[in-house]
Amino acid sequence: MPSAAALLNTAEPSGGPALRAANLDDLDALVALEEASFVADRITRRSFRNFIGSASALILVAEAAGRPGLLGYAALLFRRGTALARLYSIAVASSAAGQGIGRALLKAAETEAFDRDRILLRLEVREDNDRAIGLYRSEGYRPIGRYLDYYADHMPALRFEKILRGDKPFDTGVPYYEQTTDFTCGSCCLMMAMARDVKGFQLDPVMEIRLWREATTIFMMSGPGGCDPYGLAVTAHEFGLAAEIHVSQVGDLFLDSVRSAEKQKVMVLAQEDFRRRAAEYAIPTIVEPFTLDLLRAHLAKGGTAIVLVSGYHMFAKKVPHWILAHGDDGRHIIVHDPWVADERGESIADAAYLPLPYATFDRMARFGKSVLRAAVFLSPRRS
Ligand SMILES: CC(C)(COP(=O)(O)OP(=O)(O)OC[C@H]1O[C@@H](n2cnc3c(N)ncnc32)[C@H](O)[C@@H]1OP(=O)(O)O)[C@@H](O)C(=O)NCCC(=O)NCCS
Repeated sequence: MPSAAALLNTAEPSGGPALRAANLDDLDALVALEEASFVADRITRRSFRNFIGSASALILVAEAAGRPGLLGYAALLFRRGTALARLYSIAVASSAAGQGIGRALLKAAETEAFDRDRILLRLEVREDNDRAIGLYRSEGYRPIGRYLDYYADHMPALRFEKILRGDKPFDTGVPYYEQTTDFTCGSCCLMMAMARDVKGFQLDPVMEIRLWREATTIFMMSGPGGCDPYGLAVTAHEFGLAAEIHVSQVGDLFLDSVRSAEKQKVMVLAQEDFRRRAAEYAIPTIVEPFTLDLLRAHLAKGGTAIVLVSGYHMFAKKVPHWILAHGDDGRHIIVHDPWVADERGESIADAAYLPLPYATFDRMARFGKSVLRAAVFLSPRRS
């Protein structure tokens, strides 16, 4: 796909529509198109005017070179402080239907959203709008929910979402592995790093559980526990990688994630053991929040990093979660997230090679009220 700059204000070489950002001179044509396309829930002239003047909205229009009027438009909203963009509306003049204009507008909207550091594009569509649903599905949008009684005539809305990746393929040689249990994110990140950097290492569910048993210290509210940075670093070291721990606070971690005093006692003892072993192995431990620059420098040397993120950003649950950072394209940290949200219709393609804009990554890489920031930097061990 061409970049937004190339797309906007140019006609496609194939003779397709010219796409550009709307301006106030387009108001009449936008309102006319809106009236012809929708019988209710229309965008008003006033709203179009506000969108055109707003930094948190973008109206893209399609036109035929040399002919008056608009062939179509797409309205995008960018919620401040989030990595989300919303396709608020899209419409193509009936006289121009079926010529690929809707698809061209949708793709240009994705490029614009990606270029504004959005990683997700979401939209709602009437449940009976087969045409638009067909377009969204064919462009890789997946259903994520349904709002009842959403439109003026009480029709439900289907919600769709797509992860945006831009058009630059990226390959760091780190294979992707999907966690097979709820609690093995840390060990799966470790496995992915080892699969590239430890000779002869094999990824499989037996190893997933073995590494988890080696590196675990945290109890979740219920069910089995997860990993802490010291346990991950010690395990990485024992399996042949060089590890470096970056953690923003000293002492025991994640204690407030369990209520039972007995569980807390076990966590304290397990973590004390890991800290002692990390010291015995002379694993460097830097007790301060790692910076993005530090991580980027490590990735530039070919390293990987297991990074603690709040599950809140990834799957709306306030649980600690580990992802593997393994690339940097100059604007995004490229991660493998071992968690694939099957219930949201995600596939591995949604979780591998995720490009997280620097600011988004920086926001995600912290956990809990104490704003814990932790990462284990990994690299091949020099023998
Ligand atoms: C939805 C809409 C924007 C599509 O615009 P378009 O320019 O006609 O669409 P395209 O020519 O780019 O076609 C894109 C795809 O839509 C799907 N599509 C088109 N006609 C379809 C139909 N009758 N049934 C199901 N899917 C259909 C196909 O996947 C098609 O791709 P293909 O031609 O390669 O098979 C247009 O129909 C429209 O403006 N509808 C009224 C407003 C509206 O409903 N907006 C959506 C609000 S969420």
